[in-house]
Amino acid sequence: MTESPRLAVFPGSFDPLTNGHVDVIERAARLFDRVVVAVLVNPDKAPLFGADERLACIREVFAAQPSVEADRFDGLLVDYARRRGAVAIVRGLRRAADFDYEVQMTDTNRHLEPRVETVFLVPSPQAAFISSTLVREIAALGGSVDGMVPDAVLARLLRRRGAATRRNA
Ligand code: PNS
Repeated sequence: MTESPRLAVFPGSFDPLTNGHVDVIERAARLFDRVVVAVLVNPDKAPLFGADERLACIREVFAAQPSVEADRFDGLLVDYARRRGAVAIVRGLRRAADFDYEVQMTDTNRHLEPRVETVFLVPSPQAAFISSTLVREIAALGGSVDGMVPDAVLARLLRRRGAATRRNA
């Protein structure tokens, strides 16, 4: 009997994708046959990067890894996971501060869809301090996020800064 490929969904806002996300995606790709990086398209929020740009960054970074796919979703995560036939939802757990929120989300998702397991992966210590929120803040204040985000994101942030500087000149 041939087993069906085991697919995991790694959901998030990815605004922007950070080296912490990349670390977790690479770990997930070693455990599952296919990893879908699922970008939440939330019309209530005004993101730094639009969904298309967030997807483009993920696709650029994982261009050489066919088992990693980027997709967008809205609505309930468990509905998306069910539609994709996912066996697991992957979340990164950086430190204790993440724990309560993540477990609440896990319990809620399990209540809604008991067949999809949530798996926590811990990023390497070098990536554990990174968050998209802090990256956005540093970038907005003109600081360097070198080493915190992949080159595809860095290039886009620098392009935006260049455009803003030209606008204000
Ligand atoms: O990158 P984030 O913001 O930590 O990701 C949060 C995300 C996208 C995983 C979460 O907000 C989510 O799953 N949203 C979809 C709506 C949903 O299913 N909510 C109920 C489950 S908690």
